[in-house]
Amino acid sequence: MAAGNKLALVGYGKMGRLVEQLASQHGFDVVLRLSSTGNSHGRAITRQAFAAVDVAIEFTTPEAAPHNLKRLAEAGINAVSGTTGWYEKLDSVADAVRRAGTGLVWSPNFSVGVAVFQRLVSESAHLLKDEDGYGAWAWEIHHDAKKDAPSGTLLHLVETMRRRGYNKPINVSANRAGRHPGTHEVGFDSAADTITLRHVARNREGFAHGALKAARWILGRTGVHTFEEVLFGSSQPAAD
Ligand SMILES: NC(=O)c1ccc[n+]([C@@H]2O[C@H](COP(=O)([O-])OP(=O)(O)OC[C@H]3O[C@@H](n4cnc5c(N)ncnc54)[C@H](OP(=O)(O)O)[C@@H]3O)[C@@H](O)[C@H]2O)c1
Repeated sequence: MAAGNKLALVGYGKMGRLVEQLASQHGFDVVLRLSSTGNSHGRAITRQAFAAVDVAIEFTTPEAAPHNLKRLAEAGINAVSGTTGWYEKLDSVADAVRRAGTGLVWSPNFSVGVAVFQRLVSESAHLLKDEDGYGAWAWEIHHDAKKDAPSGTLLHLVETMRRRGYNKPINVSANRAGRHPGTHEVGFDSAADTITLRHVARNREGFAHGALKAARWILGRTGVHTFEEVLFGSSQPAAD
C-alpha cells in the first residue's frame, strides 16, 4: 500500500485518537489534529491551515459536524464523517460538498460487520413485508456517554426496512448503560417462531479501521457517498 497520504483529524476524542493509532496501517501520516478549542463553527478549518492535508476524518459532535464538513468542503478537502445525530443537516452539507467539487463519505457506522448486518436486515424485511403474522422490533444498547438515542445506526436500519417495503409497525427502543461499545438487534416474531438478527461490536477498532478505509477510497473522488458504496460498490437496493 502506498504510504504517506496526509491525514487531518477533526475531533480528537476517543475515535480521533484511535484513528491516529491505526492510521499508519492504512498508509496515512496524521499531520493535523483539531479539538473544540478555537474551532467553534469550524473556523479553524481554512485553506491555509489545511494546505498540506490530503483528506480529513471527522468524529466530533452532532452540533459541530455540519459546520466542520461545510468548512472542509469550502477549503477543498475531501472528508470522512463518522459523527452521528446531525443528519437533518445532511442535505445542506451535501450541497456544500457538490458546490465545492470535493468528496465526502458519511456513515453512522464504519464497521464492516454492521454493513453486512444491514444487508441481512434489509433482505429479511423485504422477504417478510407481506407476512401478516410477524411483528418486528429494532433495539440497541450503547455506553452511557453516547449522546444520541436511538443510535444513528438503528435509525438507518429502520429506514432501510421501510425502503424495502416493510410498512408494518416496528417497535424501536434503546438503552444507555455502562461501557457497552454497541449492540444492534432486529427481530421478527410470529405465533410460530422468532427470527433474531444481532450485531455485537467488541470494541471501537472496527469503526476506526472502516473510517480509514473510507478515507483511502475517497482520495481523488468527488461527491457524497455512503460506506456501503466503499465496501460493496453501491448503496442498498431501492424499494421493490
Ligand atoms: N460512525 C461510526 O462508526 C462511529 C463510531 C463511534 C462513534 N461515533 C460517533 O462519533 C462521534 C464522536 O465519538 P467519540 O467517541 O470520539 O466522542 P468523544 O470522545 O466525546 O470526542 C468528541 C471530540 O469532538 C471534539 N469536538 C467537539 N466540537 C468540536 C469542534 N467544533 N471541532 C473539532 N472538534 C470538536 C471534542 O473536542 P474537546 O475534547 O475539545 O471537547 C472531542 O475531542 C459521536 O457522534 C459518536 O456517536 C461514530
